[in-house]
Amino acid sequence: MRLLFLGDVVGRPGRSAVTRLLPGLRQAWALDCVIINGENAAGGFGLTEAICDDLLGAGADVVTLGNHSFDQREALVFIERQPRLLRPVNFPPGTPGRGVTMVETATGARVLVANVMGRLFMDALDDPFAAMERVVGECPLGLGADAIVVDVHAEATSEKQAMGHFLDGRVSIVVGTHTHVPTADARLLPGGTAYQSDAGMCGDYQSILGMQHEEAVRRFVQKTPGARLEPATGEGTITGLAVETDDRTGLAVKVSAVSIGPHLAEIRPAFWEKA
Ligand SMILES: [Fe+2]
Ligand SMILES: [Fe+2]
Repeated sequence: MRLLFLGDVVGRPGRSAVTRLLPGLRQAWALDCVIINGENAAGGFGLTEAICDDLLGAGADVVTLGNHSFDQREALVFIERQPRLLRPVNFPPGTPGRGVTMVETATGARVLVANVMGRLFMDALDDPFAAMERVVGECPLGLGADAIVVDVHAEATSEKQAMGHFLDGRVSIVVGTHTHVPTADARLLPGGTAYQSDAGMCGDYQSILGMQHEEAVRRFVQKTPGARLEPATGEGTITGLAVETDDRTGLAVKVSAVSIGPHLAEIRPAFWEKA
C-alpha cells in the first residue's frame, strides 16, 4: 500500500499548496491513503468545517489535529459528525470527537489512523503510551487493519522517538507533527515501522512556523502585548512522509521524506517517481 502523510497545514499558503499539489500527487504516485494534519489550517489556529471539507476534497482520507484542535469553536460540534477528523486520543474522557478511525481504501484495504499527543513541554494529558497500547491491542496490525498510521503530535523529539520504538513492528508509520520543521531522520525502524520525528508543515517557510515573522520576532524582543499572529502570505511548501507497506504484514518497506515547494530542497520518493 502507498501512504502519504503531510504535516501541519498552516493558513492559506498551506491550504493552497495542498489543494494545488495533492490531486496530481495522488494520481502520479498511485496513493492508496493520504493523511494530513490540519490543526493550523484556519488562519493558523484550528480547523473549520469548510476547510476540513477542502482538505478531504483535495485527496486527504483523514485529517488529524493536535493542541490547536478546538481553537475554532465550531470544531467542538462538527468533529462529532466527521468520522475522518481526529483529535488526540489521549484528551480527557468526554472530549468531543475521536482519536482513532478506520478508513477503507479504493481497493478495500483497511487503514487505522490514530492521533496522539505528547506530554513533554505540552499540556498534561493522559499517558500517550498507555493510550496507544490500548489502540494497537484492540486492533492489531495484520488482523484488525492492513496498515496503521500514528500521528504523534509532540514537541520533544525524544518523546516522539520513544513512541516510534514503543510501537515498532506493531504499526506501519509513526510520524511526528507540531514543530512545523521537517526532520531529516525519515527511516525504517528495526521492527519495520516507518518513522520521522517531524513531518514539518504545509505552509510558507519564509516565516516563523508559518506565521508572519515581524510580530513573532517582536514578541521575543519586547515582552509586551502586540498584534495578533497572522499566517505568512507567500507560496506554500508541502512536506511530509511517503511510505510503502507490505500488503501481507502491513509493515513499511520503503520510506522517504517529501518536500515540494519554493523554499526547501525538493525531496520526492524516488521509488514512486517514473523514470
Ligand atoms: Fe501545528
Ligand atoms: Fe501543535
